[in-house]
This record gives sequence, structure tokens and C-alpha cells, in this order.
Amino acid sequence: MKNKNSIQIFFACLLIVSAVMACSPFSTAPFSPPVAITAVIVPADAVGEEADAGSSGLGDSYYPGFGNGGYDVTHYTLDITVNDMATSDLTARTTIEANATQDLLSFNLDFIGFKIEEITVNGEPADFSRKGQELTITPLKPLVMGQSFTVVIEYNGSPEEVKSVALPVQMGWVTVEGGSFVLSEPDGSASFYPVNDHPLDKATYTFRVTVPEPLEVAANGVLTKTTDNGITNTFVFEARDPMASYLATINIDEFDTETMESEGGIPIRNYYSAELPEEIRKPFARQGEMLDYFSEVFGQYPFEVYGSMVMNTKFDTALENQTLSIYGIDQIDFGNVEDTELTVVHELAHQWFGDSVSVADWSDIWLNEGFATYSQGLWIEHLHGRQTLDDWVKSNYTFLAGGSYPPTGNPPATDLFNYESVYVRGGLTLHALRLEIGDEAFFETLKTYFALYKNGNATTDDFIAVAEKVSGKELNKFFDAWLYNETIPPIHAMGLGVE
Ligand code: TRP
Ligand code: ZN
Repeated sequence: MKNKNSIQIFFACLLIVSAVMACSPFSTAPFSPPVAITAVIVPADAVGEEADAGSSGLGDSYYPGFGNGGYDVTHYTLDITVNDMATSDLTARTTIEANATQDLLSFNLDFIGFKIEEITVNGEPADFSRKGQELTITPLKPLVMGQSFTVVIEYNGSPEEVKSVALPVQMGWVTVEGGSFVLSEPDGSASFYPVNDHPLDKATYTFRVTVPEPLEVAANGVLTKTTDNGITNTFVFEARDPMASYLATINIDEFDTETMESEGGIPIRNYYSAELPEEIRKPFARQGEMLDYFSEVFGQYPFEVYGSMVMNTKFDTALENQTLSIYGIDQIDFGNVEDTELTVVHELAHQWFGDSVSVADWSDIWLNEGFATYSQGLWIEHLHGRQTLDDWVKSNYTFLAGGSYPPTGNPPATDLFNYESVYVRGGLTLHALRLEIGDEAFFETLKTYFALYKNGNATTDDFIAVAEKVSGKELNKFFDAWLYNETIPPIHAMGLGVE
């Protein structure tokens, strides 16, 4: 829903109109405006030949080719029919509603594989060409800045196997025996739909997925309709809150479905692969409590619904897809429910930090993973008290001691989710901040940061600005040390790291 261009417009608007209030959804924010303070404002007279082709990337500092410029997607509709489950042979149509943020002779989408049958823009056939992951579309009539337009892409085939530059695992649409699932962070989405694939361009989604009986579909948002077509069924899901593209998920299997509600009234639906035993439900039983607890600590849960999906497949990880976190079966320790609950807490807390407040640049991934990791500590403290949290902090700190890892704020672009740097030291950074500014300012910082940036994007500097404003302290040195020093700083108050 927002990209650099809309931010440029926002700033141009800021410059022109001194009455900021009239101009922006952020205008009530007591702090500096979100995201792209540093965005370069392109003067209006700089429009040349080049300005009429949308850029092939959104300028991410780690992955400049991710996403595309020149337009802002508002809604995706994915119509997908699975013809053959064994190969995920699909007949598909993606409909994209977008606004041009500049004049456009052509624009790009990210898309991998498939045979494209036809592309239309505003109902008229459009030319297109493909190069690697870039799909370049040239509409019959050029688009003008501010114009809303609709792109329809018809395609078919089986998704290709995609590996990310950011971590060497298969991602995107993954076909397994008896089903398929989607886990895309950070760049797997283009493996099943044409997309502006960067978290800066959030949009709402409709999923209309047709599968052979007896298979079922679990996707983001709310199941609004199921149609029995005879030997197939169609499932329609609406994800009505803005969502980063990497969080879109469509999972196909036979499921045991469980529904409940948190005491605070948040609806929950869980999907468990039907082959799994009944005990699979245990580590997910407290999700309602968790949602209500974090709603109190961070601010009201930002989406319509929550839940989890467990595949009967090992994939060595879990992912915080918006409103529907997904877990590989190897993430579940049947013998240790409380330990598995900590993974459940991690993905659930990501709904606030990662999903609702998303990174504006992938280099800031600690804003997702450090926060979700520290949320595990907060849950431990909630259940067992401060001493148990302190023990958890100490064991995490000791785990890093002596090792040499990249600093939290500078993980390697080829190992973005470096566990020690981003998760462990990222989580410790928040605990150190809590000790530095005190509990009251710390929790007020989390709440204010969430309130300001929910449904949008934030940078590390945005977070630091909130912490400084709330605490009244100058924190640049503190964050420099914790985020960018090669060696992990000591935590004097806990006697950690002191020789
Ligand atoms: N964000 C996930 C977590 O920590 C980890 C993750 C990143 C991941 N990329 C992924 C998981 C791709 C599965 C697939 O919760
Ligand atoms: Zn995580």
C-alpha cells in the first residue's frame, strides 16, 4: 500500500503544504514520519525517457532488485485451480489493482516460471517480456501518474523450485506428497504469483483456490465461501488488512480444523494435517492467552483472525504468515509442550512485529526477529516471573560468549536470518534497552512504536527515535554498540560480559 514513490509524494506534499494535517495518515504522529526520511525527492522536471519505465527494483539496500517502482498495488486477487496435486499443475489468474505513482510506458512485476497465456491492462491486451525474475509489461496506452489500473495475468504450469539469496532453503510454493504449502520470506512469492515483491508495497488479498476432493485450502485471512463443484471444491479467503507479499500463503492438504476464541474475543482457527495425532493441538492451546497478553503489552492485535497450520512435513522451521503461522512437523516436540509453546509465541508475536509493522529495508531484519525472540522472554516472564526471564537472558548471553558473529544490525545478505546475530543478540538488545531506560519507558516505547507503524513499515532509526523520545535519553551510542559493534556489549547490571 505504500512504496518509496508514495513516500516521495508524501514528502513533496509535506514541503508544499505547511499544514501537515491535511496531507497524511501519519500526520497525527508525534514523532518523525515513518520510513523514508532519507528518500530522495525527484524533482518533477526530472521526468525523462527513463522516468516512463517503472524501475525494476525498490532500492532495498541488501536486495536492490526486489520489488519494482512506479506503482503501488492495493489489491491482489489470486484465482488458482490445482489440476494435479502431485505436480501442483496450476491454471491461474492474478488480478492486480494498482495506482501509478509516475507516468508509465511500462512497468515490472516479479514472477518466476509458468507459461503466461495473456496479460491485459485495463481490459486491453498488453505486450510483455521476461528476463530472469523480471516481467516487464507494456500497456497499449501509457499510464499517467495517479491513475488507477488493473492488470490481469493468465498463466499455467507447475511452480519452479526457488531458493533465496537470503537463505539457502527451498521457498515459495512447495509441493510435497499429498499436498503443498507456501512459505516465502523474503522472496519466494514470485514462485506462484506475479507480484511487487517487497514489504514496502503492502496490499489486501483475495484467494480463490480450487482443489480436487478431498483436499482443502488454508490461506491468509477469513474463509468467506466454499463451493462444491462436484469433484472439486473452491475455497475463497479474504485478507482484508494490508499485507506484505512474503506473508501470503496458500496451503493444501486434508486438515483437522479447530476453532476457538481468545477471552478478549480474537477468533482463532487452526489447521492440522489430518494424518497428525490429536496431541498436535496441545502446544497451540494457549494461543488465545498469548494473543490477549501481547494485545495488552504491545497494543490491540492488529488482524481479524489468527491461527496456526501444521503440515505433516519436515521443513525445519516455522513462518509467521499473516493471520496464519505455519509449522513443519519437526518444529513440534510432542514430549515438551512448553518448549514448543515458545516457538508458537515467537510466530504469534511476529503478527505485531514483522507482519503489521514490517521492515522498510531487509537489512533491518532484527526488527522482526529480535522482537519475536524477546517476546519469548516476555512470555516466560509472564508465566514464571522475572527471575526466570533473567535466567533466560543469561543463558542466551552465555550462548554467544566467546563466539564471533556478525553484528545484529549488519547480518550477511546471504545469511539474513543468522540465528546468533539477528535472533539471539537482537533479543538481548531489547533486554539491554529495557535495563538502560527502565521498564516504564521500555514498554511505552514498544506500545508507541507499534501504534505509529502498524499496518506499515519502519526502520531501525524509527525505532531508536521512539525510544529516545519516550525515555528522554540520547541512545545513539547504546544502539551503535548493540547493533553494529563486532563484539557484543556487556550488560553490567547483570554482570554479563564483564571480564
Ligand atoms: N521468519 C521465520 C521465523 O523466524 C524464519 C524464516 C525466514 C523462514 N525465512 C523463512 C521460515 C523461509 C521458513 C521459510 O519465524
Ligand atoms: Zn521469527
